[in-house]
Amino acid sequence: MFDLLIIGSGGTGLSAALEAASRGAKVAVACKGLPTQAQTCMAQGGINAALGNVEPDSVEEHIADTLRSAHGLADEAMVRTLCESGPETIEWLDRMLVPFSRIEPSKTPHSSLLTPHSLRTIAQRRLGGASHPRACYAQDYTGLKILQSLYDRCLERGVRFLPERTLLELAHWEDRIHGAHFWDLANGEIETVHAGATLLATGGFGDLYHGYSTNAHGASGDGIAAALRAGASLSNMEYVQFHPTAMAGSSILISEGARGAGAILVDERGERFTDELGPRDEVARAIFRKIQEGSRIYLDLRPIPRETLEELMPQELHLTQLHAHIDPLEEPIPIQPAVHYSMGGIDVDRSFAVKELKGLWAAGECSDAHVHGANRLGGNSLLEIVAFGRLAARNAVEHPRMVPDTRECSDPQSRVEAIFQRRGKFNPYHKRKILGKRLYHDLGILREERGIRGALEYLTELTEKLPQTELGDRNRKNNRALVEYLEYENSLLLAEAVAQAALWRNESRGAHWRTDFPNEDPKFQRSSQTRMENGEVVVHAAE
Ligand code: FUM
Repeated sequence: MFDLLIIGSGGTGLSAALEAASRGAKVAVACKGLPTQAQTCMAQGGINAALGNVEPDSVEEHIADTLRSAHGLADEAMVRTLCESGPETIEWLDRMLVPFSRIEPSKTPHSSLLTPHSLRTIAQRRLGGASHPRACYAQDYTGLKILQSLYDRCLERGVRFLPERTLLELAHWEDRIHGAHFWDLANGEIETVHAGATLLATGGFGDLYHGYSTNAHGASGDGIAAALRAGASLSNMEYVQFHPTAMAGSSILISEGARGAGAILVDERGERFTDELGPRDEVARAIFRKIQEGSRIYLDLRPIPRETLEELMPQELHLTQLHAHIDPLEEPIPIQPAVHYSMGGIDVDRSFAVKELKGLWAAGECSDAHVHGANRLGGNSLLEIVAFGRLAARNAVEHPRMVPDTRECSDPQSRVEAIFQRRGKFNPYHKRKILGKRLYHDLGILREERGIRGALEYLTELTEKLPQTELGDRNRKNNRALVEYLEYENSLLLAEAVAQAALWRNESRGAHWRTDFPNEDPKFQRSSQTRMENGEVVVHAAE
């Protein structure tokens, strides 16, 4: 029995584990793959904190930028907590030995005397929608470096890892969560882990849009789906963020940092058509509309001096050559917007507790802590996962512990046995690709009622076919087909949640753009809330 079970080993999970361990808690981190195989390692641009090392900046301006971008859907108190935590979070990461890029002390005339000395040379870059260069970075490996440093510290501090455990269900009796049931990949059996508190840190659901997402395979929202099935509410599921610049075809991210350093967006005629550093939703829409008109769109890195590119973006230079077969120092890169981030998620209160389920907390991309609203600012997600991961862990371990109950609402054994017994010809892996394309088209940057309803019908059809879904592999041990099947089931459930919420929001606000309701409507300046009621996905306005 652990004091705290953390599910997910990305930035949120590892920050939470270190915080809980520093408070003497017995912690376990369970993860679907191996520790550090997480979306965090793909974050390139940086982590926001108003250090003001390059230009004068302030926490108040960080708050103002975040609220402006959120279009009235953020909780100002939570945004304040997030932005105020920025400098202390960077100081903590510096102590965790994250190798941030640095600037010469002589080039930081603006850094405030209030900023601790060790932080004054941390380099900062401008990302879209920010009034100042505010994202602290480690070249274009920011997430990766953060994750590796946190993992090293976890190993030093004896955090226990449970790798290759796929979340099946939360262990609960009525509304009390006392751990989770996992499929243990190597042993081919169900493992139940009991804990006094459980923290979901399982990341987002970007891979629903398979083939049109910067997210890795496996970003299937497993924790969000499990929480929904156990009785939690989700909020703002219609808010899926599209990043303006992914490589056309592969959807590999080219960081906003490139545009912050001077890269421009051009159409086929080489003409610029939008403010490259505008908010992400606006830039993505401008590009998408041009593509719809039949133009190809390119990101041109050539205005940036070669030495700067090689210093700031070595990973992206390499990936462009590898996947687009282009030398970006010589020619522009064909790009398209791609799904990047889930702004909606498990609805949590200001202490990160899941409102309907006792003993359960959620933080990071799987949660909606109401800081991003209708459009997340680049650099705020890395800040959120570290700052809120730590805060959530602190609250969870200080809260009275749940005691495991011998009674149990979920029945993971029957669920898994039923999957193994299925016979049929339906191939979920092929369907996943088709699903991604369909969602990008009908629940993408521009949406309208007819397309959303069409997507819902298609989802119902796929869900009805689930009983004919035969696993390609019947072995118990090391059965990846079972994991992929479970991910597919979660994807179908969450895709329905996104579609129902998109249908509910009859307006356009931030990243949710309805061509049949093209204006903001004050009636909808509130969160949507999604629940399971009698087995159906139902959406209401939040109270
Ligand atoms: O473009 C980027 O580097 C993305 C940053 C972010 O999503 O926070």
